Amino acid sequence: MIPDSLICALRSARHVVVFTGAGVSAESGIPTFRDALSGLWERFDPSELATPEAFRRDPALVWGWYEWRRMQVLKARPNPAHVAIAELAHHVPRLTLITQNVDDLHERAGSQGVIHLHGNLHRPRCFACAREPAEPLPVAEEPEGGRRLEPPRCSHCGGQLRPGVVWFGESLPVDALNAAFQAAGECDLLLSVGTSGVVYPAAEVPHRARDAGATVVHVNPQGEPTAGNREYLIALPAGEALPELLRAASGA
Ligand code: OAD
Repeated sequence: MIPDSLICALRSARHVVVFTGAGVSAESGIPTFRDALSGLWERFDPSELATPEAFRRDPALVWGWYEWRRMQVLKARPNPAHVAIAELAHHVPRLTLITQNVDDLHERAGSQGVIHLHGNLHRPRCFACAREPAEPLPVAEEPEGGRRLEPPRCSHCGGQLRPGVVWFGESLPVDALNAAFQAAGECDLLLSVGTSGVVYPAAEVPHRARDAGATVVHVNPQGEPTAGNREYLIALPAGEALPELLRAASGA
């Protein structure tokens, strides 16, 4: 199932980048954004929930929605794809993990130094002064998708807390983006797992790797067939493909 040329590239790679999107957490029960029927943006309007203007207009609607998502993540567990990626780091000389996801399932599977391009659901900060609360916030009781919830107040300035994610119209964290682009430009092989690749600048990461001469592997059951030299598509769910790739890398 995995072409010999790809197994060879994986075994000889000195620096592997793994770049993940919502599809890597789909088999943990976390909805993606753009899958037909189940995608979050099929059911919810991002302009009402994922912009600074939306938060200014209706902070309780936005905070309630993100608390609902945080609750889903807290109840979820890493799946075989997260586990295989964490394990892969022990079988290649160097691995950089870059994610667009705001969950912590990579960390809970054992990955370290994860670069979060779109922030983290578990790290809210003040909308006014940007400081983070000293203590983790308790989880609200069973918030639902549409339930409003007043955001807690900042203990420093009294402002409202906002989710620690990047919203539409906001810049990505500069350090994370620079580290991601640098790793993409230096790696020999990049695995792009479970992303539609439509949200920029994050979607530039695999392009940068390809333009710098790296082998690029897309893992996506709905992925477009690739014709390029040194570009592969594994059209399987991440929870099947990543353990296969790990077996290939470890020679098992
Ligand atoms: P999308 O929902 O756009 O794309 C998810 C991709 O995962 C789709 O191409 C699916 O075909 C694929 N997929 C679904 N199940 C899969 C599985 N089991 N294994 C592998 N692939 C699977 O999610 P992202 O590309 O992550 O931004 O979206 C990018 C950004 O758009 C997100 O980070 C978020 C969103 O708006 C912010 O929150 C800033």
